[in-house]
Amino acid sequence: MDQADRYRELLTELREHNHRYHALGLTIIDDNEYDALYRELVAIEEAHPELIDSQSLTQRVGEPLETGFAPVSHRERMFSLDNAMSIEELDAWNERLVGSLGRSGRGYSCELKIDGLAISLTYERGELVRASTRGDGAVGEDVTANVRTIRSVPMVLRGEAPEVMEVRGEIYLPVSEFKALNARQAEAGAPPYINPRNTAAGSVRQKDPAMTASRNLAVWIYQLGFVEGGPQLDTHTQQMQWLSDLGLRINPANETVKTIDDVKRYISDATAHRHDRDYETDGIVIKADALADQAEVGFTARSPRWAIAYKLPPEEKNTVLRSIEINVGRTGAVTPYAVMEPVFVGGVTVTNATLHNESELLRKDVRPGDTVVVRRAGDVIPEVVGPVLELRPRGLRKWRMPELCPFCGNPIVLTAGEAKAKCTGGFTCGSRLREYLYHFGSRGAMDIEGLGYKTVDALVSAELIEDPADIYGLTDEQLLTLEGWGAISATNLISAIERSKSRPLAKLIFGLGIDHVGGTVAGLLAEQFRTLAAVGSATVEQVSEIGGIGPEIASSVHSWFADPDNQALVGRLADAGITLELPERDGPTLPQTLDGLSFVITGTLDGFSRDAAKAAIQERGGKVIGSVSSKTTALVAGENAGSKLAKAQAVGVPVLDVESFVNLLERGPDGLI
Ligand code: IVH
Repeated sequence: MDQADRYRELLTELREHNHRYHALGLTIIDDNEYDALYRELVAIEEAHPELIDSQSLTQRVGEPLETGFAPVSHRERMFSLDNAMSIEELDAWNERLVGSLGRSGRGYSCELKIDGLAISLTYERGELVRASTRGDGAVGEDVTANVRTIRSVPMVLRGEAPEVMEVRGEIYLPVSEFKALNARQAEAGAPPYINPRNTAAGSVRQKDPAMTASRNLAVWIYQLGFVEGGPQLDTHTQQMQWLSDLGLRINPANETVKTIDDVKRYISDATAHRHDRDYETDGIVIKADALADQAEVGFTARSPRWAIAYKLPPEEKNTVLRSIEINVGRTGAVTPYAVMEPVFVGGVTVTNATLHNESELLRKDVRPGDTVVVRRAGDVIPEVVGPVLELRPRGLRKWRMPELCPFCGNPIVLTAGEAKAKCTGGFTCGSRLREYLYHFGSRGAMDIEGLGYKTVDALVSAELIEDPADIYGLTDEQLLTLEGWGAISATNLISAIERSKSRPLAKLIFGLGIDHVGGTVAGLLAEQFRTLAAVGSATVEQVSEIGGIGPEIASSVHSWFADPDNQALVGRLADAGITLELPERDGPTLPQTLDGLSFVITGTLDGFSRDAAKAAIQERGGKVIGSVSSKTTALVAGENAGSKLAKAQAVGVPVLDVESFVNLLERGPDGLI
């Protein structure tokens, strides 16, 4: 075959793979194979520049624009949609539709309303010739060079393409790409991008197509504009199927349904899954499916009568930042938070929002008096995304962390390498003490029902408690002195406190509020050491030998127990009769053949889950640790073992495959010949 033929063949094959991957979301060829084909294409283009097809995959990214974007008149106006803000408004739209048709509609297309920017794509004889923004609906901007860089926009259609065709869709920035972009911004110390929609719009209006290409935008096509020489079709759904056959990317979440009740079901389903997708949606678009019905009801000046956008509550709103306050948490860490003009966002009214930590706040550079973007997606805690700089009044000062703690007056310090500044007041800091006690009684820790934030506050203010052990000395009489407390609430709290004495050891360890010790680490510590005393006397090395616990956590555990105040606290908790150990095992039922030996597990072991392999070793008295050192007895390595295998080989630690592992379990170390 000559080079020109091979070139055409490669183009066709690579386009087909791209179509499957980007439009259909399938992967059937492996990356290496694809790369080999792509390299072959590039090699031919380098050797024979005269063969280069202007729509070749290598030609997606063109030269930077010298001038602005040229205006483009839309051949057919790009309408927007009317909104329904409630199910009642949806019903009203449907009644109008049915009313003007004089009969019920012939089905509905239900689609997600993608939160990006509208785009119009024109194909002539199957080739992408123009991409333009919506603009004012009549005239948009020519952004062809940038849109060509988007891989889910085919440069060439598949199969039998019509003479001329215009389609419409939404360009968006996948949420995962948005997060990755902001992670890169953070690394560079640059301010974060506000949201995927603005970033997508900005990316499409870059002068340099290479910049647009680097953002990894994507497209969903949702509408056929005009067409010359296409097949005769009756419904919007058929049109979308046809566009999909031509290689355009149609959202598989679209559904064609019969009745308005089906539409409502789609809406509730789509709402429930709003956050499961890699793109943001701001509603559901409902379209009368039959093209004849659409033609019959037509358009108003602004929008089609045959479609409506059912709006979901906005997840972002602007509001004014009144002040930045700080809170001292249970470990002394200082967290700044925003106090704002109340704003309805993500379905609730928000006035406070976390600002995470000082460096994050300074990076975002929000200042009291700023108009800020507040975001609350799903059940996520409200967050201040950033300032709207165009609306910043003159003379606002950059925020600075106060030097002294507003609760206790002690200095606030930021240790190098730590993200969060800390109050140095220890438990003399009222804020820290309250947070600590509240945490101790919370559900994930000692689960003392009735010891909520308000009660903790009342108890601390009345000087009835100063540390967790004091909780166990509380009496009915003391509680009855508190305002609003009666015999029943007092008895309930006392019995909840009593019940908490038998909480599992892991919950107690978590409740102690040791820096970096969350529920999982607390569980590992309890499992490994079995008594609080043993955790307390463990060395940093012994703690960090546990898989999943690093040196930072280990030294935090060690220094907590080394503190005399904490030792005294542990003593008083013991005196109060709190369970400080795991229940005795029924004695080892298996011979302790692996006593004194330590193992590291890596990769996937045929026939064992990771937990099962670990338990099998531990039941025989062996230890499972997180990383390989020269002291490790052996590495148990399954399929796809990575760096741990290399490390074991480097330091000369024996490596066991599954078969040898089973031998080890059955016959002890002698099973390893
Ligand atoms: S149909 C004539 N379908 O929402 C009908 N629009 O105000 C044209 N949008 O600017 C729109 N997802 O950019 C339609 N599945 C979808 C959509 C969608 C997002 C955007 C579109 C338009 C706006 C409506």
